[in-house]
Amino acid sequence: MAPIPLMTPYQMGKFNLSHRVVLAPLTRMRSYGNVPQPHAILYYSQRTSKGGLLIAEATGVSDTAQGYPDTPGIWTKEQVEAWKPIVDAVHEKGGIFFCQIWHVGRVSNYGFQPDGQAPISCTDKPVMPQKQSNDEEVAEFSTPRRLSTEEVPLVVNDFRVAARNAIEAGFDGVEIHGAHGYLLDQFMKDSVNDRTDKYGGSLENRCRFPLEVVEAVADEIGADKVGIRLSPYANYMESGDSNPEALGLYMASSLNKFGILYCHMVEPRMIKVGERLEVPYSLLPMRKAFKGTFIVVGGYDREEGNKAIADGYADLVAYGRWFLSNPDLPRRFELNAPLNSYDRLIFYISDPVVGYTDYPFLESSAN
Ligand SMILES: Cc1cc2nc3c(=O)[nH]c(=O)nc-3n(C[C@H](O)[C@H](O)[C@H](O)COP(=O)(O)O)c2cc1C
Repeated sequence: MAPIPLMTPYQMGKFNLSHRVVLAPLTRMRSYGNVPQPHAILYYSQRTSKGGLLIAEATGVSDTAQGYPDTPGIWTKEQVEAWKPIVDAVHEKGGIFFCQIWHVGRVSNYGFQPDGQAPISCTDKPVMPQKQSNDEEVAEFSTPRRLSTEEVPLVVNDFRVAARNAIEAGFDGVEIHGAHGYLLDQFMKDSVNDRTDKYGGSLENRCRFPLEVVEAVADEIGADKVGIRLSPYANYMESGDSNPEALGLYMASSLNKFGILYCHMVEPRMIKVGERLEVPYSLLPMRKAFKGTFIVVGGYDREEGNKAIADGYADLVAYGRWFLSNPDLPRRFELNAPLNSYDRLIFYISDPVVGYTDYPFLESSAN
């Protein structure tokens, strides 16, 4: 039988991956008080396979980084300690575990900020209220405070410290969250960034802060442990760009300077959150420009993932919703077994079991 492309091994830097099916970062909002909880041990270990790569949910780098309830952080000792048994459980089953480190920037409100301050951003333009994924609630955002030029390096340093903490917690590396309308993306995109200092204006200037974060994190923990996620084409949280291809290409080639491990890009078809629309764009130019491992994500099923690998369009394919509802997704792909469907209404509920660790395994692989 011909090998299944997604199930072939891949050498990612010093990591020996036994297959190409990556757990995409998935915010689950079950880390009460921003502290990872013991129920995450089961959740992540369920999704671990020997030699599989997992990316943890977006994890705040500082006390100004949050914009959603009960998302985990990695800036306090307590949070670092709480991550340790989760990371250990993944390692025990032979998984490779990266922590996605993020700052939401203006996608926040006074209620999430220390002392009820304004959220920080590259701008003082607020995001309009957004409908939540359950289509009922509406998230409200406060008018952000524009960071001064001198303050930007302090935020860069928060990412540096968070990366150090992630390594201290036992993670194999970090993924810098540069996608989906959060702080790094706010700086990159010309519909948001209205600065006139060295962090705004030209493409080079808009990418300066994200690249400073990459450099600082790579300096701190080693470039061989650093990935970044980018979504040049997306327009989430009113963060779109007038020339996404130029932006994606500029970032892909600039990242080469730092020799980081991987670049994880969101497909242009993911225009709206959770929806896939057909578009005439491709990530191929960025894939060709970037010299490290290239991970793609967004709307993939088994067949398309296999094709992406077979065609050399990507090295690895990340799966979000299918991995959320199928803890043994790599095995199901191997067997071409049917998949559990997912229920978006329970993606973000705070229950420690329901919609979290209760999606069934294939009978033969229950564990
Ligand atoms: C419940 C949920 C939570 C998500 N949380 C994050 C996150 O923390 N960080 C991130 O970069 N993307 C996040 N995403 C986006 C996914 O990682 C992925 O890019 C998206 O679901 C598209 O891939 P898919 O079609 O395989 O689901 C989330 C998506 C979902 C459905």
